[in-house]
Amino acid sequence: MNDEQGISRRNFIKATSAGLLCSAAAGALGGVKAFASEPESQTAAFNGKKKFAGVGSCREITQDIIYIGVSDRRIELFENVYPIPRGVAYNSYVMLDEKTVLFDTVDRSVTGQFFENLTAVLDGRELDYLVVNHMEPDHSSAISEVLVRYPKAKVVCTRAAAIILNQFFACDISDRAIFVGEGDTLKTGKHTLTFVMAPMVHWPEVMMTYDNISGALFSADAFGSFGALNGNLFADEVDFAKDWLSDARRYYCNIVGKYGPQVQAVLKKAGTVDIKILCPTHGPVWRKDLGWILNKYSLWSSYTPEDKAVMVVYGSVYGGTESAANAVAAKISQAGVADVAVYDVSKTHVSELIAEAFRCSHIVLASITYNMGIFTPMKNFLLDLEAHNLQNRCFSFVENGSWSPVSGKQMREIVDRLGGCSVVGKTVTIKSSPASGDSTALTELAEAVSASVLGNSTSQKKVEAAVSKKWVCTVCGYVYEGDKLPEDYKCPLCGAGINAFKEA
Ligand code: FEO
Repeated sequence: MNDEQGISRRNFIKATSAGLLCSAAAGALGGVKAFASEPESQTAAFNGKKKFAGVGSCREITQDIIYIGVSDRRIELFENVYPIPRGVAYNSYVMLDEKTVLFDTVDRSVTGQFFENLTAVLDGRELDYLVVNHMEPDHSSAISEVLVRYPKAKVVCTRAAAIILNQFFACDISDRAIFVGEGDTLKTGKHTLTFVMAPMVHWPEVMMTYDNISGALFSADAFGSFGALNGNLFADEVDFAKDWLSDARRYYCNIVGKYGPQVQAVLKKAGTVDIKILCPTHGPVWRKDLGWILNKYSLWSSYTPEDKAVMVVYGSVYGGTESAANAVAAKISQAGVADVAVYDVSKTHVSELIAEAFRCSHIVLASITYNMGIFTPMKNFLLDLEAHNLQNRCFSFVENGSWSPVSGKQMREIVDRLGGCSVVGKTVTIKSSPASGDSTALTELAEAVSASVLGNSTSQKKVEAAVSKKWVCTVCGYVYEGDKLPEDYKCPLCGAGINAFKEA
């Protein structure tokens, strides 16, 4: 079968066996640019040459679909942002049919093992197609070298992927590209691949590829997870709920969480296809209990809380706010809520907090006032929540300020910008440290939260119960709380009279 027979629909077929156009690849490989118009010589330059001293570490998924991904256990920060103490896997797959197909490549950090695996699996065969489901460099950094090593391979991708590939790697694939769109198919022998567009899951060029024989969906970043693979490839070979779910959630929420509607759109399409295997670009492969992970994705992407649970996040300098947060958590637990977790916003990486916020139905925020605003780590967390589009949660507030507590109001302003969120209970204000008089307010807040979680609340309201007015001293910033300032009131900090106060 020739290539033209193998590709259906449209006149997008641009597959040729034209010579190498990838100058970046040539440059990166030192000297091979000279072979740019001599693909056979170029191939010869690599024939029989190992990328590094090693052996293949592949695993069969089906008889003709082989996993050739590689794990990186040295990396500290994924995307130079997210701590990944368990490392990460860059997944890549080969399908051996009448034609050979490579699905995505890997990050530049692991190309040695990747080419060892690819060479072992192809076992001397040519590579016919490279399917680029996702162009982000953690999956595309080896494309240039693949094109050099396999000069007859065509690149199957979206037009957007080709543009971004060129931007990142100065790699023009226009004469080797087969551009595909929604529903286009490619016959490779007994298999037929169908391409499903998945823009913004996680970049605009993303697509997924479905194989009709195995029912495998090569799903790009979707259904992926942080964490290196440890020989075990399949989710059913590990205790996923115990050992992987938190990293899968943290991966999804932080990497793709902002794009819930786009994920929902893909899930809708997935519902019309008989998917038997999920092959993501990170983490374990799914061949059993697909409904379990699909349900998680449905919850996360619709911003539906995964658990009836409370996360209490506090930002504290001298312990007063921490004490109030602990008191609220204890009272919530005592009221019968089993799933309560307390986090120090200064000590917990924000990616963990984002993931917990996606999991929990209720979030209690306790922050000191800092530079006349929200404590910086707490503000960063809340702005990150907003950036990730979190919705449909119940929030409660504790604010602290030794002379001018304003963090509660400012946290509320950010929360008000989130979609579908409610406020539970009345904001508790403490001055420096919780005083005995604050105990009642903290108890009432905890009772309101626990009642809301347990579903027997009449106190969950779209808006917070009316708070008393606040009057701010324009001289020193001191805040007086009460409906009205006493006529003879003087600021206890600077001595200014009532004319110096403005309502906050
Ligand atoms: Fe794993 Fe969006 O790249």
